[in-house]
Amino acid sequence: MSALLVGGFVLAGPALPANADEPDPPDCTKVDCVALTFDDGPGEHTDRLLDILGEHDAKATFYLLGSQVDEYKDEVKRMVMDGHEIGSHSWEHADLTTLSTDEIEDDLDRTDKAINNIIDKDPVTVRPPYGALNDTVRQAVDRPIMLWDVDTLDWQHHNGDKIVDIAGKETSPGSVLLLHDIHKTTVDAVPAVLETLSEDDYEFVTIGDLFQEDLEPGTVYSDARSEYTQQPGD
Ligand code: NI
Repeated sequence: MSALLVGGFVLAGPALPANADEPDPPDCTKVDCVALTFDDGPGEHTDRLLDILGEHDAKATFYLLGSQVDEYKDEVKRMVMDGHEIGSHSWEHADLTTLSTDEIEDDLDRTDKAINNIIDKDPVTVRPPYGALNDTVRQAVDRPIMLWDVDTLDWQHHNGDKIVDIAGKETSPGSVLLLHDIHKTTVDAVPAVLETLSEDDYEFVTIGDLFQEDLEPGTVYSDARSEYTQQPGD
């Protein structure tokens, strides 16, 4: 058995940067943690979302589009200042499986640079648009690849009650929830999502804190229950 398969926090992996200004995150080995992730932004509702997350003392992870960040620099800076995590969602949402290795690398490099220009560090993990993956994408991405296990389908139905219902029913300890902060209905529903999941005593943490230090470059993850899913070339 590979050491990685031992579901342990004892194993060393690449360290994810911690925000020194924030209090220690909850210990996800002792309490039930979930990661809310917001894709396709930043956008016009992001600042209000940051207010809501702050009011609930909830941390989240934002999978940003490189093409959007210059227009919302203040929001991107605030994400980091507020203790949230930033991931890459590509430059402008191309299906990476339609691109060559060079094109994928150029797309992600361009995105990294735009984000790094604002926050002085690169995105920690990569979420490919549509969750679309093939061997070329897996081999071209030099960081952990983060999918999700709870899809609220918010982009499809634009219905706050449904978002809350799906989140409440499908979330379990270690879940990664997919949401989109570019939709007003989603941001409107976030207080109820937080309140519903808080009733089940979930703590809201970043991807880095949910997975501790167990993330490996090029490996695909959907939740923190299956710390090992696919290797490049599988
Ligand atoms: Ni997306």
